[in-house]
Amino acid sequence: MSVEVVDANIEYMTHMAVLQIISLGTKHGVFSMLAREPSLQEFLDNTGLPNRALLVKFLSTLQQLGMVSIDRGRLRLNDFSYTLSVSGEAYRNLIPDWVSVHEEIYRMVDYAFITPVHPRILMDFDKDADFWDIRMNSSFSRTYRKVMAEVSGISSGMEVFDIGCGSVSPEYFGSLVGYNGFYMGIDYSPSMLDIARMRVEEKNLPVTLKEIDARLMRPINEYDVVLMSFVLEYISDRGKVLVKAVETLKEGGKLVILEPFRDTFPNIAALEFFESLNKDFRGFPSMEEVESVLKASELDVSMKRLGRSLLLVEKV
Ligand SMILES: C[S@@+](CC[C@H](N)C(=O)[O-])C[C@H]1O[C@@H](n2cnc3c(N)ncnc32)[C@H](O)[C@@H]1O
Repeated sequence: MSVEVVDANIEYMTHMAVLQIISLGTKHGVFSMLAREPSLQEFLDNTGLPNRALLVKFLSTLQQLGMVSIDRGRLRLNDFSYTLSVSGEAYRNLIPDWVSVHEEIYRMVDYAFITPVHPRILMDFDKDADFWDIRMNSSFSRTYRKVMAEVSGISSGMEVFDIGCGSVSPEYFGSLVGYNGFYMGIDYSPSMLDIARMRVEEKNLPVTLKEIDARLMRPINEYDVVLMSFVLEYISDRGKVLVKAVETLKEGGKLVILEPFRDTFPNIAALEFFESLNKDFRGFPSMEEVESVLKASELDVSMKRLGRSLLLVEKV
């Protein structure tokens, strides 16, 4: 299993998200309203969508994608062309089962345009833990976990710390470290942890799970591997959490960060729009941002980019 597979799927997710943005702008009358070159106020007053905060976010997404610009106080639609090219290699790497989950999320936007608290929006980690569990259980998620285990060399007897572990990873990594190893998972969602606990208790795995916000963690043990997959995007004070994550490594230990990094996936703003239906979503980090935070710290680390979605940090 290789990081190219993960990259190819994230890239494809982005392509599909851009097409969905175009679909949303068309069906909700956003483009026809923008064609009149309104001021921001006229746009918000006349588009007819009650959730103005989401409308502003949508507009910002269109700007980031280069579809809209502001010229002397008026919103203008730009000529826009989008080339979707998928190589034969990328098709071979596609793992189809994330598509149906993303289709559910695209549909949620229709309801979110009515109200941010619509019951058909299923993106909250606690209220909608079951939906997240389906997402985290997809073949795509199982694939990236395998890649993370491979690049960090997780094996029997190791001690692993997983920040924002969710409901599925504890069972997988707990099985890999085995009964002479140790896995500690933290997550701020009690519902995600309940599902995780059910899985590890069934197998009696050497797993400890703690409900804690990563921003408040004070890990005392030292670990061979620290994992952060799809979690930095929910953390506002990323710098502090990253430094703590490295501090908790043994010498020679590895931190693996997996994200759809902003600076390696063009048009990622389209995917961010959909993920922002989760109220804690802060945007994807960039590789550069993570690297410069760690370079600026006192920590002695070496960093390696693996493809476009993985960053491997070793404590020297
Ligand atoms: C997209 S899921 C990824 C779960 C897991 N890392 C995986 O790849 O399967 C994000 C997880 O991070 C947790 N999370 C988000 N922000 C957090 C925070 N500030 N502290 C602890 N957990 C957090 C959520 O509850 C959720 O379980």
